[in-house]
Amino acid sequence: TRTPVSVTVTGAAGQIGYALLFRIASGHLLGADVPVKLRLLEIPQAVKAAEGTAMELDDCAFPLLSGIDIFDDATKAFEGANVALLVGARPRTKGMERGDLLEANGGIFGPQGKAINAGAADDIKVLVVGNPANTNALIAQRNAPDVPAERFTAMTRLDHNRALAQLSKKAGVTVSDIKKMTIWGNHSATQYPDLFHAEIGGRTAAEVVGDQDWLENTFIPTVAKRGAAIIEARGASSAASAASAALDHVNTWVNGTAEGDWTSMAVVSDGSYGVPEGLISSFPVTTRDGEWEIVKGLEIDEFSRGRIDASVNELAEERDAVGKLGLI
Ligand code: NAI
Repeated sequence: TRTPVSVTVTGAAGQIGYALLFRIASGHLLGADVPVKLRLLEIPQAVKAAEGTAMELDDCAFPLLSGIDIFDDATKAFEGANVALLVGARPRTKGMERGDLLEANGGIFGPQGKAINAGAADDIKVLVVGNPANTNALIAQRNAPDVPAERFTAMTRLDHNRALAQLSKKAGVTVSDIKKMTIWGNHSATQYPDLFHAEIGGRTAAEVVGDQDWLENTFIPTVAKRGAAIIEARGASSAASAASAALDHVNTWVNGTAEGDWTSMAVVSDGSYGVPEGLISSFPVTTRDGEWEIVKGLEIDEFSRGRIDASVNELAEERDAVGKLGLI
């Protein structure tokens, strides 16, 4: 039998945690033949709730789940971790300025980056879900100088999946008929879901849809503001869909993208497409043997250029702000 893979999940007692842990334990993160050991990290006040979730995980009698440990100390929680899902974050509360938000999250993701640096397994792969995800990932990455920078990623897969869903309805095709969807930039309202490189039956999605007004004034804002629409409808933020996207992200990273397709991941820029080197920005990426690669050489028209630049500028501002705060 295979050695279990150690998966650390932060914010385990939160709503995404509740939607995520059961599916990790049932084989949806790494594959139906890979045993997992869960390491849950919570703040002290939420440890009891995490223990309750662990009781339920026990009660599912998942054959792949080989153990659960719960921590309120990051250094211990990341010890030996092969995969880390950084879900717990400080949410924006009323009256909070962006600087305050970045600072509060720096207080979480800085120490977690250090803990990963100190004790995670050599093959550690990190996915940051907690918002502001790209910049939190940047903070963690900069605090983990001994870990290769490409192991730190942030989640735009939910945006990617939302884009697939919206486009499939509009074009009257299934989501599996759509290839090469891309989310560019920041996981925020400035993100750019790109239909000029997405393909349906070998033609670009923009061409298939043939409706620039819909693309600009319905599709892009619907995808970018979907999180707010979910809160409005559900009275709580996206949780099951966010968890599902986190599973997709790691699963694709580990098991590879299909031939003729790619995915969206926020990864450390190498300067491609004019995105400043070092920023953690969403790109079209292919994955193979547990490594990602930015898809190169796509032609970017003027419309897309403007959208990508706007989102990347926001990321650069966030980076400068956390730099001034001494967080990176
Ligand atoms: P939640 O508030 O239900 O749960 C967050 C949990 O994190 C809480 O149990 C809290 O105690 C814990 N936590 C806080 N600080 C922590 C720390 N230092 N260490 C460990 N745990 C800590 O929130 P929910 O709904 O589960 O969302 C989690 C995060 O995911 C939020 O930041 C949210 O904005 C983000 N998110 C990101 C998405 C994306 O597409 N990237 C999509 C949806 C949500």
